[in-house]
Amino acid sequence: MSGDHEDAAAAAREFGHQFSEFMNWAHTVGAADDAPLTRLIKAHLGGADDEPVVSRRWGAFEQVNLQRAVEAWTVQPGREVRVQGLSIPDGFSGVSLGQVIDGSHLPPMRLSAPDVTDLPSGPGESLACWNRALLLVRDAAGPYAVLISGPQPHEEASVRFEIAGLPMAEAQSVLGDLEESRARLNVYRGQTVIASMTPMGGIALTFATTERVQRADVILPTAVLDRIERHAIAISAHADRLTAAGQHLKRGLLLYGPPGTGKTHTVRYLIGARDHATRILMQGEALRAVGQITTLARELAPSVVVLEDVDLVAEDRSYGEINPVLFDLLDAMDGSAADADLLFVLTTNRAEVLERALIQRPGRIDVAVEIDRPDEGARRKLLRLYGAEVLAALSDEDLEQVVERSDGVTASFLKELIRRAVLSALNDDRVSRCTLPDLTDALDDLLDQAQSVTRSLLGLSGDESSDEAVDDGTTGYRSVARPGVYRARPRRGRLP
Ligand SMILES: Nc1ncnc2c1ncn2[C@@H]1O[C@H](COP(=O)(O)OP(=O)(O)OP(=O)(O)O)[C@@H](O)[C@H]1O
Ligand SMILES: [Mg+2]
Repeated sequence: MSGDHEDAAAAAREFGHQFSEFMNWAHTVGAADDAPLTRLIKAHLGGADDEPVVSRRWGAFEQVNLQRAVEAWTVQPGREVRVQGLSIPDGFSGVSLGQVIDGSHLPPMRLSAPDVTDLPSGPGESLACWNRALLLVRDAAGPYAVLISGPQPHEEASVRFEIAGLPMAEAQSVLGDLEESRARLNVYRGQTVIASMTPMGGIALTFATTERVQRADVILPTAVLDRIERHAIAISAHADRLTAAGQHLKRGLLLYGPPGTGKTHTVRYLIGARDHATRILMQGEALRAVGQITTLARELAPSVVVLEDVDLVAEDRSYGEINPVLFDLLDAMDGSAADADLLFVLTTNRAEVLERALIQRPGRIDVAVEIDRPDEGARRKLLRLYGAEVLAALSDEDLEQVVERSDGVTASFLKELIRRAVLSALNDDRVSRCTLPDLTDALDDLLDQAQSVTRSLLGLSGDESSDEAVDDGTTGYRSVARPGVYRARPRRGRLP
């Protein structure tokens, strides 16, 4: 028994000895491999290698802006920069500048050309960005080193700059200069971008080119469109005078109404009309990042932030009874400084879901506009808009029949109606010239109860539609009363 015990203890001692020999060996091999880099930095820094390493991090979406900033900074007069890449084999974690200077516990590394990622820097443009680069700098501040580490796999996506060799205040001032150029050279300024959330909780921005919608193609009652434009566009046009008069430019516009009535269509028109502004589009999960996006929008002002289908996050109660995302959203809208020309456009087809939050956080939404189903005149205009060519063979009386029979449908329903009529003409080899039967058959088909699923998908109200349709008298639009579904209370004007 005790013999066994001693054997085991001896084996453990032997293992311990061998393990420590192995570690010494591994360390020597590592140090021998890494020595060139450590030697290089130490030689460059002269004796200044005991200054603190000062670092700063930015979100990964800033990598392209930082690259522009660092490139501009590198070529400033009086500065000499040698760029050195470090390659670390896959599977090893990143390295800090402190580690490199110290020369211990380093992953295996080789000096190489800087490893780059090509990142979008505008619609259809890209910029090669350093993923890991060591800059050996010499300028008025003396010799120092900057290590740039781009987003690494399995880490929170960020870009880190570390500076060694300078006293703290000077290192901070270098970081401040880089930060200033990052903000000034921001590639997202004046662009349309879609914000999304990365799996690690950061923001990703993608350049978008959205279809430009002309004013004449937005079929809404004049009073409604005027009101939207006054709030969204005119305030920016008078920005200087409003600011001089002590008025703020930040504003929130809520577009609400049934699916397929043109909320997104109106947003497209607005972002086209504000083409000098930075336009940031958010939907779904991305709405959770509204705080960070608002900071970005403010930096890039004038900005338009579009928050589509806000009811979806408003309804998510996974964090408890009161939905924090919605409150964050409303707080973000409030928190930005009064001078920034920021327009928030929110859309929803379920305004009542937002109501309680809007009552508890008043003043974020200045104007709520209902976008309702088209009345007779609007349906006529929509048929002309979407059927200009294909309905040319129809007489005015034919068209009126369709207008009359389509009471209660949405704009997107009419678009689909025309598409189906065109298909039926094509099936008959009538090269996209529709006849009245093409249209009425398609209408019968779409209106048929059997198509109820398609009908609700297209935003057509239920059986009650024509009976309960009411003309509200102010907009010339017909609103279909579906209590508790689309109707927001209070319906127009300022929400409390
Ligand atoms: N008022 C309108 N004037 C002209 N076209 C319209 C109008 N409303 C809808 N359309 C057409 O129907 C399509 C679908 O409408 P849109 O996506 O704007 O609906 P929505 O109100 O945003 O619906 P949802 O609530 O489902 O998001 C638009 O791309 C556009 O082509
Ligand atoms: Mg929409």
